[in-house]
Amino acid sequence: MMTSEHKQRVAVYPGSFDPVTYGHLDIIRRSAKQFDHLIVAVLNNTSKNPLFTLEERKEILTEVTADLPNVSIDGFRDLLVRFMKSRNADVIIRGIRSVTDFEYELQMASTNHHLDNEIDTIFMMTNPKYSYLSSSIVKEIAKFQGSVHELVPPEVEQRLLAKYSTPPGE
Ligand code: PNS
Repeated sequence: MMTSEHKQRVAVYPGSFDPVTYGHLDIIRRSAKQFDHLIVAVLNNTSKNPLFTLEERKEILTEVTADLPNVSIDGFRDLLVRFMKSRNADVIIRGIRSVTDFEYELQMASTNHHLDNEIDTIFMMTNPKYSYLSSSIVKEIAKFQGSVHELVPPEVEQRLLAKYSTPPGE
């Protein structure tokens, strides 16, 4: 029998997002269409020495997803599966750009499933337009005053310009 109540399908798109690129944004937009609610979860990774603070990364993500009503932004510093339990989510979204991403992603998906067998990972193929794109590449270009205009939203471009306003070595 059909009931009017259906369990909200909540997915989590985790990552460092240091900073968010058009590649990430493409995955956010497409996966938000598949779920009732998408939580973009920013890892507070103390070991990675990020360029942007957790607060900055969350603020940027909030700005660039402002037109997506079923997307929210959150931070976590715990095991991903534990964070997901706390948000009643059981699906992880990850983007795959190439076969080189695959091995690491398979390892991570299998680990998360081992830690909690109610959690599944769904992969989305990144738009081929952005298959070479990564946050590290964007930071590298910006550091040397190159244009990242076509790679990141204006909100990110502006902040990168501010961070790297003095050329390296000066
Ligand atoms: O954007 P990234 O850096 O590729 O994202 C990696 C992320 C944040 C998804 C991953 O490092 C993670 O989930 N870390 C939280 C710790 C955890 O749960 N580790 C176990 C899974 S390997």
